[in-house]
Order: sequence, then C-alpha cells, then structure tokens
Amino acid sequence: VSAPEPLESFFLDPDRTYLNHASYGAPTRALMAHADAIRAELERDTELALGLGLAPRLGSVADRLGRELGLTGGQMALTINATEANNALAASYDLRPGDRVVLAATEYSSVIEAWALACRRQSAHLVVVHLPLPITQDALLDRLDDALTGARLTVVSAIASSTAMRAPLAEVLKLAEDHGTEVFVDASHVLGHDEFDELGQAAAVFGTTHKWIPAPRSSGFLWLADDSHTVSPALVALSRGADSMLERFSWRGTWDPATLLALPAALDEAERWRARGLLAASCALADELASDLEQIGLIPAVDPSLVAPRMRSFVVPGADKDSLRTFLRAKRVSVPVPGDLDDTAVRFAINVYNTAADAQRLVQVLRDYIGGSRAA
Ligand SMILES: Cc1ncc(COP(=O)(O)O)c(C=O)c1O
Repeated sequence: VSAPEPLESFFLDPDRTYLNHASYGAPTRALMAHADAIRAELERDTELALGLGLAPRLGSVADRLGRELGLTGGQMALTINATEANNALAASYDLRPGDRVVLAATEYSSVIEAWALACRRQSAHLVVVHLPLPITQDALLDRLDDALTGARLTVVSAIASSTAMRAPLAEVLKLAEDHGTEVFVDASHVLGHDEFDELGQAAAVFGTTHKWIPAPRSSGFLWLADDSHTVSPALVALSRGADSMLERFSWRGTWDPATLLALPAALDEAERWRARGLLAASCALADELASDLEQIGLIPAVDPSLVAPRMRSFVVPGADKDSLRTFLRAKRVSVPVPGDLDDTAVRFAINVYNTAADAQRLVQVLRDYIGGSRAA
C-alpha cells in the first residue's frame, strides 16, 4: 500500500485537520488545472463549444458515468449537482391529489424541501418517517413498511448524509415493489466511495459527483430507468422540448460546463487511487477511528450492518450542537455537526490524504470536549 496522497496535492489548509470532504468535495490541484484548461479551450470557439458541439461531449461523459455507476440502459443526463437533479424530478413528476410521497427525516434537507413543495402544489401528502438513533435495519424496514402502504413514491439515499447510513437497498427496493411504490435513489455518496449492485433497479437515480472523486465543483447526474417519466430541468430554457434528456439538460441558459467535462479525468485519478490501495487504506482508517470514538463513549448513529465504508456518524452524548461546533472550529478540526438530527452528532469522512494522526487528533479533541474542557 502506498503512503497517503500528500496533502499538497490538494488546496486544503495544512493547519486544519480535514475530515469532511463529504460535504463539498476536495478537488486536487491537478484536476482544477485540468478544468481550467478545458475552460480555456472552450473559449477558443464558444459558438461551437457551447452550441452544437456541447451535447455530444456531455453525452460521452454521461456514458462513462453510467458505466462507473452500473447504470446502463435508460437515460442519463448531467446536472450541476444533486439538488438540480432532484428539483427536476420533483417539478416534472405528476402527482395526483391525495398521493403519498415517503421520505425518511434523515434524507437530505434540500431533497425533502423540493418534494414538500411538489406535494403542496399538487395536493399530495409528504410523509416524513422519523428514525430514532441508533438506526437498526429492522426499525428502518418496519417503519418504511408502515409508511409505504398506499404510497406512490419514495426517495431513499443509498448513503445518507447526516447519519452516514448505508441503506439496505435490495430490501428497500423489494419492500417498495411489494407496495407498488416507485423508488428514486439519491446516490450522492456513491461514486468513488461504494458500489451498489441494485442501483439500476430504481426508477431514477441522481446525485452529486464531486464529493468522493477529486473532481472540481460542481457536477452531478440524473438517470432514469426507462421513458415512463419525461423529466426536464426545473429551470425552463429553450431546449425544454428536446427529445433526449441529455439535450434538455445541456442548455440551462448560458453556463460553464467545464467541471462536467473534467469528470472523466477525475474518475481516472480515483481509479489510480484505488489501484494504489489508497481507498482500502482509507476504509481501514475509518474502521479504526470508529472504534476509537466508541471507546471514548460516542454512540454510532447506525447499526454495524448499515455502516458506510469511509463515512461515519456518531452521537456525542450530552453535547450541545453550538458549543461542539465552536469547540471543533477553535481546535481547527473540520467535521460537521449535522443540524437536521435531533441528537448532537459528528460525522467524519476519510479521504486519501488522511493519516492516523488526523484520526487521533479528532479523538483527542472530542475526548477533551467530553471531559469538560469545553471552553474554546
Ligand atoms: C445525500 C445527499 N443528497 C443531496 C445532497 C445535495 O448535494 P448538492 O448540494 O451538491 O446538490 C447532499 C449534499 O451534501 C447529500 O449529502
């Protein structure tokens, strides 16, 4: 196994312990330069590059992305991020009055908001399922089973944001099928992080792609299994009537597609990391850090069967969100304290630059916080 990728390959402040690329991504210097080179190349002939020449180039990126995610067949479009893709789904979905749309409260807040609005506009019901921590697979499936009765649609994260829960996707898809409920999967934490054989069984899959590969911000995708839905961007533009979904998303008003065109190179770099053993080493470091955090009294947000490879969330008993955030910031440790959970929790994500020293720093800072030295 190679040594971790040097921090200097990234733009990160060396005076911080950075365990949170899962929020905003962490592009390498090389890939930012690559996106800049693409941007400069587009400038040579914008009439072609942003006009007729664009959709075919985006199409070949979309094909590559589909292969990486195991989403073959169907239709793939590139988006700016998961929020755009989910808004397009919600704005294009014909809900009937009285329809029920089911989401767990632990789904990403922007995703819930978009479906809440779609439901309000079409007199449908948004059903938000609350899942007390720590989440067990039985509790999750029991509550979903109740909520899905008569439901039209459910949106499920393959790996959730605040809890870092890796969904038992095969079981969720089976349950939804038994209830005749359509499933859309939020795969924002999948590319470059994990693999799900069942993704292609969902009716739609969407996500942000710059979180776990070293891609410049921002990039995302939307995949539909078949043509039973026609999805157009929520932002209405002149290509709205195009036949292919890829084309409908290729013109969103004047925009900069450079980060999307840079995706293949970011995928290549992530593949080199994998081949060097860096991803396996990151998984091992995540396991070690998780066990150290349990030893100092933190409580895993999910059962061992629902754990994601390199991202974990822990309840900090007795902690207050604001004081913990202030403490972590003062100690120059970057881990989010999610605002959408009832409990006070911290979530860490391990990337290829992280070392055992980073993990120990987080353990030490949390031990100090728990031990009462909470003054920042
Ligand atoms: C599970 C999940 N879904 C959706 C999003 C939204 O991503 P973006 O803000 O890039 O659109 C995030 C962002 O953190 C996320 O974690």
